[in-house]
Amino acid sequence: KDTDYVPRPARAPLPLGVIPAGTTNILAYTLYGIKHPVTATLHIIMGHVQPVDVCTFSTPSKLLRFGFSAMFGFGARTLALAEKHRWMPSSQRKDFAFIKTLANLRPEECELSFLPLQTSQEGSHENDSKDQWHKIQGHFLNVSIMAIPCLCSMAPRGLAPNTRLNNGSMALIAVQNTSRSAFIKHLKRYASVKNQFNFPFVETYTVEEVKVQPRFKSMFDSKDDTCGNSTSAEGTYPWNIDGDLVEEGSAVHVRLHPQLIDLYGVNIDELQGSKATCNCI
Ligand SMILES: *[C@@H]1O[C@H](CO)[C@@H](O)[C@H](O)[C@H]1NC(C)=O
Ligand SMILES: *[C@@H]1O[C@H](CO)[C@@H](O)[C@H](O)[C@H]1NC(C)=O
Ligand SMILES: *[C@@H]1O[C@H](CO)[C@@H](O)[C@H](O)[C@H]1NC(C)=O
Ligand SMILES: *[C@@H]1O[C@H](CO)[C@@H](O)[C@H](O)[C@H]1NC(C)=O
Repeated sequence: KDTDYVPRPARAPLPLGVIPAGTTNILAYTLYGIKHPVTATLHIIMGHVQPVDVCTFSTPSKLLRFGFSAMFGFGARTLALAEKHRWMPSSQRKDFAFIKTLANLRPEECELSFLPLQTSQEGSHENDSKDQWHKIQGHFLNVSIMAIPCLCSMAPRGLAPNTRLNNGSMALIAVQNTSRSAFIKHLKRYASVKNQFNFPFVETYTVEEVKVQPRFKSMFDSKDDTCGNSTSAEGTYPWNIDGDLVEEGSAVHVRLHPQLIDLYGVNIDELQGSKATCNCI
């Protein structure tokens, strides 16, 4: 266990700029309050710099990648299905994948272990932290692990309004198995001002580290995919890491690296009050 790969990234010496060019652009949206290349460029020119929390995603043997946000379960299956239909126009592909994944909604059986944020920042650090790992086992429909609030047009308050860009913590949001209609109700709340987590099947935690250990048994009773094989390759599970599909078979360990990089942009708290309108998508 002690031989597990532990990433020790070094702080980037220079600030980085993010120019929104893709389709969702959660990072740009979170940094600039709007998905707009000119706004982004202006922040870079004016030199507004923000330190930002970064996560590493690793298996017991290797680093998978750096990132800010990850989804496991529904949010990842949707992406995996969309990636299989690249020939469709992008907007159509997203809707198709969303609806199809919702129609085949099924929970992932897994174990989530997490290290809650230590409230006393001062003395006792690493030594007693091992005892503080919490474990929840069960069937989860959707799990989000987010180091930044992840604002986007579909969720103007963020996919994780309960975290900040650089306050040294991640949000772990776990949706337990429930009925399809209840799950849809929860998803719809992201677009509104109401609390999307205020459901008995949704749990939220403020954490420093998370491990996701899937149980493979549940993989092989899936024959509901009309496109042939299920959304993930055999023996692996899809992850959605900052909108990129990552297929992984082992447990994934997510660690937070507080304020690891400087990015051009502003903190969303400073934007509140100013109109962060969502006229994109
Ligand atoms: C679940 O999936 C949706 C859509 O893919 C995503 O936007 C949402 O943030 C995910 N997380 C939770 C905890 O519901
Ligand atoms: C970061 O902000 C969130 C939301 O305000 C809060 O729940 C969390 O405890 C904060 N983390 C730290 C390290 O203060
Ligand atoms: C998940 O919940 C649905 C609806 O309540 C139920 O039909 C299904 O059997 C549950 N699945 C598991 C694995 O518990
Ligand atoms: C599904 O996967 C199996 C094994 O990987 C492969 O032999 C088969 O051709 C695939 N079926 C379809 C419809 O893609």
